Amino acid sequence: MGKTVLITGTSSGFGKLTAQLFHQNGWNVVATMRSPQMETELVGLKNTLVTKMDVTDKQSIKNAIEKAVDKFGSIDVLVNNAGYGASGFLEEASVKEVNKQIGTNLLGVINTIQEVLPQMRKQKSGTIINITSVAGTFGMPMFSLYNASKFAVEGLSESLTFELKEFGITIKTVAPGAFRTNFMDAMSINEGNKKSELNSFRDQYKDHLSEMAMKPPKPFGYGNPQVVANKIYECATQQTPTKNFIGKDAKSLSLMRKFMSKKQFFNMLYKAGLPKYN
Ligand SMILES: NC(=O)c1ccc[n+]([C@@H]2O[C@H](COP(=O)([O-])OP(=O)(O)OC[C@H]3O[C@@H](n4cnc5c(N)ncnc54)[C@H](OP(=O)(O)O)[C@@H]3O)[C@@H](O)[C@H]2O)c1
Repeated sequence: MGKTVLITGTSSGFGKLTAQLFHQNGWNVVATMRSPQMETELVGLKNTLVTKMDVTDKQSIKNAIEKAVDKFGSIDVLVNNAGYGASGFLEEASVKEVNKQIGTNLLGVINTIQEVLPQMRKQKSGTIINITSVAGTFGMPMFSLYNASKFAVEGLSESLTFELKEFGITIKTVAPGAFRTNFMDAMSINEGNKKSELNSFRDQYKDHLSEMAMKPPKPFGYGNPQVVANKIYECATQQTPTKNFIGKDAKSLSLMRKFMSKKQFFNMLYKAGLPKYN
């Protein structure tokens, strides 16, 4: 019947490119997304099931996995890709905003892994690939919740390497740098709990952020998102390390953060245009 990959968040960006790449390589593809009724490119592809999954909704995860196993008989690879970036002052984030960021980027990954594991244990094999970020390796100003979610997925994944090994299940992370997808457009600023005394700081930060969004990041610019899909495919089909940085920026910055002082590192990033509020 061939091998099957299930990918979350395939309506755009890395998720869609990854679905297309696995399909081109002859895999069965379960392309999950929140609004499958809107999808035009993946629908109708041979051996591809486009189905609904919101990673914050356990029942929709269960349904998608059940449909995948009914149709293809196995789930050999799970790619936890769905996610978005929330920024802003932690203090101004409402409970709803905190829950949405952590609920999507961290609990979404936990929920999906929990639901897929019984099937992978039954198969005595499987690979889980979690898309983290270079933001899961060093903190960035005003991205505390996003950083927290991606650091947490790195920790979760490292721990699970031990827990899952005896069941024949491998777990890896792919940590991209900056790539031009819908990510910047989908980014939110948490301000549901606005504090008037933070108004001027917030305004400055927002100005910096919109400036940053207009220009490619220095000095590497945006990478081609296809290389992320290629790296995910490589992680699914070949021996690779557990943690895989992808993009010139992610590779260099993760190394620099290790060897430079925090002050030197962030001065360099500020000079390159990292937004700040003072
Ligand atoms: N692009 C970058 O520079 C970059 C860098 C590092 C890491 N990443 C990570 O890469 C992953 C993919 O992002 P991308 O760059 O490809 O951005 P993207 O084009 O915005 O794709 C994000 C995908 O996640 C989906 N999604 C969001 N919330 C969801 C939920 N509750 N349930 C199911 N799907 C949901 C979106 O679906 P809808 O269409 O329904 O919103 C969309 O399909 C994310 O985890 C992101 O944090 C991106």
